[in-house]
Amino acid sequence: MSTSRNEELKSFDRDAFFHPFTALKAHEQTGPKIFHSAKGSTLVDVDGNKFLDALAGLWCVNIGYGNTRMAAAMKEQVETLSYYHSFASMGTEAAAELAERLIRMSPVPMSKVFFGNSGSDANDTQAKLVWFYNNALGRPLKKKIIARTRGYHGVTVLSAGLTGLDNLHAGFDLPLPMIRHTRAPHRLWEAEPGMTDLEFSAALAKDLEDLILKEGPETVAAFIAEPLQAAGGVLVPPDGYFAAIQTVLDRYDVLLIADEVVTGFGRLGVGFGSTYFGMKPDLITVAKGITSAYVPLSACLVSEKVWRVLVDAGDKLGVFGHGYTYSAHPLATKSAMTNLDIIEEEHLVERAAKLGLYLQERVRAVFADHPLVAEVRGVGLIAAVEFVESKSPLKAFNPADKIGVRIARRSMELGVITRALPAADTIAFSPPFVVTESELDVMVETTQKAADQIAAEIGRG
Ligand SMILES: Cc1ncc(COP(=O)(O)O)c(C=O)c1O
Repeated sequence: MSTSRNEELKSFDRDAFFHPFTALKAHEQTGPKIFHSAKGSTLVDVDGNKFLDALAGLWCVNIGYGNTRMAAAMKEQVETLSYYHSFASMGTEAAAELAERLIRMSPVPMSKVFFGNSGSDANDTQAKLVWFYNNALGRPLKKKIIARTRGYHGVTVLSAGLTGLDNLHAGFDLPLPMIRHTRAPHRLWEAEPGMTDLEFSAALAKDLEDLILKEGPETVAAFIAEPLQAAGGVLVPPDGYFAAIQTVLDRYDVLLIADEVVTGFGRLGVGFGSTYFGMKPDLITVAKGITSAYVPLSACLVSEKVWRVLVDAGDKLGVFGHGYTYSAHPLATKSAMTNLDIIEEEHLVERAAKLGLYLQERVRAVFADHPLVAEVRGVGLIAAVEFVESKSPLKAFNPADKIGVRIARRSMELGVITRALPAADTIAFSPPFVVTESELDVMVETTQKAADQIAAEIGRG
């Protein structure tokens, strides 16, 4: 593209495009980075610069960019049936096929699938299902939902509150009043020195139980958790965590919602995070990897226990009053079917497991002894490195110094896109499943170079 055209695009963007999760004043001054094309794990911007994408977009482009089989399937779907809705018992072929497939794939027995367009709206749907369920059971007080600090569940009015990150609340009058938070299973900052995993898990389960008792069990409806907290820092729960949590939930008849938006469909090297960590959810949220982000799609998997109550409630409450124009959009459901075919036939979950071992080994080899690194974490093809001012005593950098953001920005200047996570100075890796070992080497080594340069600039080289 010509330089003048690129400059024109950048000025259109700066003048008219309200970017999500963006420092608005800085954007007015510095403008955008605009991408033109991508293939596999490599993005190309409008100026022709290439970047390895170590985060698969936003943890979502699992089969990689520019898959021609996906393009052909999507073209065929648009030519055959570009849209029809799914209200009032209407349906399309791919929606039926995908629902059946998701029930078959589910990590625990599930009964029905409700389709949405994003992880955020799917988590709102889960909350509405939980409320409807308790209304139907004649328990109108049982409405509170407990989430965790550093959890990420989206940005809609309800799900932003479930998200346990302050910058999603401040300025928006959130969370809504029925939301509570309990501690994240973050060893580095939350465990007492010398605690074993099982002791830490027991302490976290006790916190949850104390919170339920303080609120009154008759008011607590559900607990929502990512199997592994992605955006909050790639937090891998300690051994025994979900078993201990589950015991508490069962004791007080509290439903478990597993938010598998990042972990679903293979990111951990197994199909679902619930399997990896032994969770027994009543409701599961999926999005992102369901279509590898070729088109927006999310889904709520609903257990028979919840479903039967919803069905029986129809006699009293009438038609189930929830759904979107684009619920089960045929282009999205067809994309999901094709994406899941590709993952299965090309053995991409097995590939994620194998390359995941390589990523975990490389990232530890490079960063474990780095002077600014407090912890390297991850499972499968998701990992993170947390940078701190001091390891002993443990002390975070002043957030205003934006060390994580500076490292991610420098990596990008050096040709690798990673992500600085919002809760601390943590850099995340979550590449496409089609990434190669040599691309992983470049991703990790470039991040190291960026970290070393920033360390030198702050006098810690
Ligand atoms: C675990 C989890 N849940 C929900 C969401 C929200 O999804 P969306 O951005 O599609 O609304 C995200 C997004 O990153 C996520 O990581």
